[in-house]
This record gives sequence, C-alpha cells and structure tokens, in this order.
Amino acid sequence: MVKIIMHGCNGHMGQVISGLVEKDPDAEIVAGIDVTDQGKNSYPVYTNMEECQVEADALIDFSSAKATDALLAYCEKRKLPVVLCTTGLSEEQLAKVEETAKNVAVLKSANMSLGINTLMKLLQDAAKVLATAGFDMEIVEKHHRLKVDAPSGTALALADSINEAMDNQYHYTYDRSQRREMRDDKEIGISAVRGGTIVGEHEVIFAGPDEVIEFKHTAYSKAVFGKGAIEAAKFLAGKPAGRYDMSDVISAK
Ligand SMILES: NC(=O)c1ccc[n+]([C@@H]2O[C@H](COP(=O)([O-])OP(=O)(O)OC[C@H]3O[C@@H](n4cnc5c(N)ncnc54)[C@H](O)[C@@H]3O)[C@@H](O)[C@H]2O)c1
Repeated sequence: MVKIIMHGCNGHMGQVISGLVEKDPDAEIVAGIDVTDQGKNSYPVYTNMEECQVEADALIDFSSAKATDALLAYCEKRKLPVVLCTTGLSEEQLAKVEETAKNVAVLKSANMSLGINTLMKLLQDAAKVLATAGFDMEIVEKHHRLKVDAPSGTALALADSINEAMDNQYHYTYDRSQRREMRDDKEIGISAVRGGTIVGEHEVIFAGPDEVIEFKHTAYSKAVFGKGAIEAAKFLAGKPAGRYDMSDVISAK
C-alpha cells in the first residue's frame, strides 16, 4: 500500500486523484495540502505545508508554479519522493528541480498519461525505421474550443521525441498558407484543430510512398493524467535520489 500526500488536493486534478485512489486497493491518500480547506475530503488537509508531517511514501503535486519552490524545499527536507505534475515552471525552477533531485527522487512530466508516454516510445522506434525510409511525418492535434495555446504542449513533446530519435535533424512547420513550395524532407508538420469539448486527440501520420501508418491517442477525460500520476507515485516510492520521468515508469512495467 503506497501512502500518498496530495498537494493541491482541492483542485480539479487533486479531486480526480482522490476519487481514483479511493477505488485503488494499492494506494491511500494519507494527507492533503491546499491553500484552503472546505472539509470535503476523507483525509486530513493542511493549509500550512510545514505542519504536515504525516508519514508517506510519495507526494503528488498538481497545484501552481507559485507553490513549487516551497514544495521542493519541503520534499527535500523530508526526503519525500515527489511526482511533479504542475506545469509552467520557470527556468530557475527547472534548475531547482535538478538540484533537488540530487537529494531526493523527483519525477516530472508535462503529460502524465501512460498512453501518451507509451506512444512517444513507439514513435521513436517507428521514426527510426520509417523516416529513414523516406516517410513524411505529420501531427494533427484536436482540443476543445476553450484552449488558447496552439499547438498543444503534448503535440510538441511528441514531435520532440521523434526529432530526438532522428538526431534532431528535423524542424517543425505550423502553417503552409504563406508559401508555395513542396514540403521539405526534414520537416514535421503540426496542425491544430479547436472545437467543442474535445478533451485531447493526437494523431501522428507516417506517410510514405504507397502506404500510410497512423498512430492515434484519444483522451476521454482528465482521469488519464490522474491514473498516470498514481502509477508514478507507486513507482517512485522507495526510489533513491535522482531525476525520473514517465519513460522510467513505463520501462518498469
Ligand atoms: N502533467 C500533467 O499531465 C498535467 C495534467 C493536468 C494538469 N496539469 C497541471 O497541474 C496543475 C493543476 O491543475 P488543476 O487543473 O488541478 O488546477 P486547479 O486550479 O483546479 O487546482 C490547483 C489547486 O492547487 C491549489 N494551490 C494553488 N497554490 C497552492 C499552494 N501555494 N499550496 C497549495 N495548494 C495550492 C489551488 O488552491 C487548487 O486547489 C496546473 O499547472 C496544470 O497545468 C498537469
């Protein structure tokens, strides 16, 4: 049984994880931390992090980048493995993450979905064979009408993992409307669709001479991030100091 402290427990993802852990016989939330508490959780909630000294195996963080500095110091001091899911960290904070990982286990990922992280691994294998054989690579991502940024961070992360497998020889194209020329061999086209309530779709197309292979991931709810974070906490419990990511969780399966 993995004992978890939930940082940001009253937020959207904190509540998703609370619901998932309730049904998980191998995990338990032993305490929550948030700036306010309405008493809606089945576990004790601390509004002052320093007062939370409950024994735990790992901490999951879905809160705000404003909280990250104090959180890293807390986990380092307590030698508490931390699954960092909050996005929007500054360059200084990213450097602090690396420093902290010298003294305690830190797992950070901008996308906690096991599916997306497995897809990244599959794409690297596919690209090594197919891109080398002259297949063109294109990514199409679809999200709800409220999303303001494009392309999605996940589409960029997928492109980055392909590019990394290809020794970073590729560049990305987001708009072809202003040019009249055929695509370049070393380009990855990334297109964004926005509409309705689509939670998140990512399609990676390998288009070659006379054949096409498509990989597609569809997220139906934000629970996919919660499930991945819980798996990450189970993986991280008892791990020595170091910097981990979701590929380590997948490789351990
Ligand atoms: N890595 C991923 O896969 C992934 C997936 C979804 C969301 N996120 C990120 O996780 C973060 C939270 O997302 P959300 O949708 O749950 O947001 P949210 O706003 O619904 O919840 C955040 C919670 O954190 C609390 N919080 C804010 N500052 C705090 C502090 N100083 N100390 C303690 N608690 C504090 C808030 O009160 C709130 O309850 C965001 O950065 C989001 O981008 C990451």
